[in-house]
Amino acid sequence: MTVTFYRKGSAAFVTLDNPPVNAIGLSVRQGLSKALDWIAEEDDLTRVILSGAGRMFAAGADAREFDGPAQPPHLPDIISRIETCAIPWVAVITGVALGGGCELALGCRVRIMSPKAQIGLPEVTLGVIPGAGGTQRLPRVIGMAKAVRMISSGRPISAVDAERFGLIEGIADDPMEYARHLDLGTLELSIPPCDMPPPTLHQQALADARTMAARKMAHQRAPQVAIDLVEASAMHPLDVGLAQERAAFLDLRQGDQARALRHVFFAERGARAPADLVAAPADLSHVAVVGGGMMGSGIAYALLGAGLDVTLIEADADGAARAQSNVDRIMAASEARGLTTPDDVAERQARLQITQDYADAAHAGLAIEAAFESMDVKASVFADLSKVMPENAILATNTSYLDLDAIAACVPDPSRVIGLHFFAPAHIMKLLEIVRGAQTSDRAMATGYALAKRLRKVPVPAGVCDGFIGNRILARYREAADTVLMDGATPWEIDEAMVAFGYAMGPYEAQDLSGLDIAFAQRRRQDATRDPARRYIPIADRMVELGKLGRKTGAGWYRYPGGAGKVDDPIVADLAIEEAHFAGITRRDFEPSEICDRLLCAMVNEAADLLDQGIAASASDIDLVMVHGYGFPRWRGGLMHWAQVHGLDRIVASINRYAKEDALAWQLSPTLEDAARSGGFHLTKA
Ligand code: 3HC
Repeated sequence: MTVTFYRKGSAAFVTLDNPPVNAIGLSVRQGLSKALDWIAEEDDLTRVILSGAGRMFAAGADAREFDGPAQPPHLPDIISRIETCAIPWVAVITGVALGGGCELALGCRVRIMSPKAQIGLPEVTLGVIPGAGGTQRLPRVIGMAKAVRMISSGRPISAVDAERFGLIEGIADDPMEYARHLDLGTLELSIPPCDMPPPTLHQQALADARTMAARKMAHQRAPQVAIDLVEASAMHPLDVGLAQERAAFLDLRQGDQARALRHVFFAERGARAPADLVAAPADLSHVAVVGGGMMGSGIAYALLGAGLDVTLIEADADGAARAQSNVDRIMAASEARGLTTPDDVAERQARLQITQDYADAAHAGLAIEAAFESMDVKASVFADLSKVMPENAILATNTSYLDLDAIAACVPDPSRVIGLHFFAPAHIMKLLEIVRGAQTSDRAMATGYALAKRLRKVPVPAGVCDGFIGNRILARYREAADTVLMDGATPWEIDEAMVAFGYAMGPYEAQDLSGLDIAFAQRRRQDATRDPARRYIPIADRMVELGKLGRKTGAGWYRYPGGAGKVDDPIVADLAIEEAHFAGITRRDFEPSEICDRLLCAMVNEAADLLDQGIAASASDIDLVMVHGYGFPRWRGGLMHWAQVHGLDRIVASINRYAKEDALAWQLSPTLEDAARSGGFHLTKA
């Protein structure tokens, strides 16, 4: 039974009991219906107390049901029955009341929260809108301005804010006790939203919300539809608004965007240590980081933020000073953004030790090397670490490209070595590629997953290859872009096409941000092994020779006069024309749709090869990598989800067409061909 109910004295207790998050699926709706029937038959009840068993009130409607047809009893009908019930209902909110959970609470006469609880309507983050009255009742209860902000952003609010907004009656350490003893007069006098007048229209708040949603959730339908419905709440009686809301909800939840966002949501939940990984992780209370550059200091800050003690090792006094100033800069930025207080900063600094002595890492359970990307440097760091650290400590490298197995060979026990590939800025980016080498132990893998959990990152396992999952796909993306650039497009045409697809920025603007020298160094590393028959586009090399390294030099693919916004650079366009001329290429125009098709097909093909080679474990892992590490639009569901929706047969046809120009670059992946024939990739893990 997922809903239990009983009476004690004149109070009825209805409890949602559907672990782990009390998602409101069919059985919960049926249970609530039964509870309502039972209450209608009971005499002398004065209140009904609705709560959630376990750690929360309710996470909302069961999103797993959204792929099928809506089945009665429907949540909006249940909430209307609660709202109009002769006996007043009191919601006791612990943990979270989200989505349908918040809407259930809105149907109650009174809401009480525990101090740490949160309440909100995050539906837009799943590509839908509140579908059980949220867009109509919330503005009536707290006013249009606050309601539209909550609904269009999807961000939950704290108990303190909920009380300040007038959304709840009170906050109590023991909200159940509070609800049981709530004064009867208060209960009887409280007005249900259905008897409240429509909210006053707040045009400015609506306009602000529309602008914000267009900026932060560009291309997404749900936030704009939600805002329209909040606006409609001021113009229609509740029943009309509810009917409009329900129709919009049902329409959106079938749509491509909602399906894609659900796919990412569930892929994120599935990203955790596999059940058969039973080894105990290393102790993470003290972690050593080697290298205090931008990456190392970001990692150190992330570790401090998760409550761990950190020893940051640098090679010399200058390096140590630079590391300290890098960490200080991150701390100051997070304080300036209001994410930390001066006390937090002091407390974190107290847990940070910056040293030049490896012996200070002697008691750490894990070391993460984030030193210069050179095999010689890594070999010496790992040799030093393995000398001082306990035998059961895990040694991780943050290398992006170097061979993990070669690094592991530098220590007597290579099973201790693992790749933990963070993404810059490491304290913000959610992705963590956990790279398993040929000899990496289960204990090392378990440690990687445990660390991801502590840091609240999305862990994705990867095998050893040049670039692991993300950077290998990125290299192919850039190669396809450079080819289009050489053959006739400009960097800004290519960027615009990808932005129109949904990226926040295209490949060239992104390179300007990270610096063209990084990819240059990588290309030099690959010179020895690159197939000489493969077409090589030298434009990016010419850029580096000209000192156009991106934003940091004031110019890259674009110019940044005065360090401000980007400006198209005719020199870059001329460079492409010149190189094409040297190569004897007759340039031509590219439509945005063809640019997108080429870049996306190149990535999908590479990703399919990664599956084939066992570098990536599942298509949904690739989606997580692309969404959390490479800016692939979340609302497209990630690369592989997009590929399925777009049509794998169309992608295969494109690749075969492009292969006629360049058979080497466009070798169709057998895994992609199979998937197209057999109806798709297995998106989730077996
Ligand atoms: N539907 C179905 N399953 C859900 C769910 C939901 N709304 N929310 C969470 N789950 C599942 C997860 O998939 C996971 O399942 P698994 O163990 O089988 O992988 C399990 O519950 C635990 O979830 P988390 O790992 O996310 O647990 P946390 O404690 O870290 O977080 C949470 C809890 C904050 C509630 C988080 O799960 C969350 O944000 N959930 C989604 C909230 C949401 O978007 N609600 C709106 C739903 S749409 C709606 O209500 C429509 C309505 O207006 C009609």
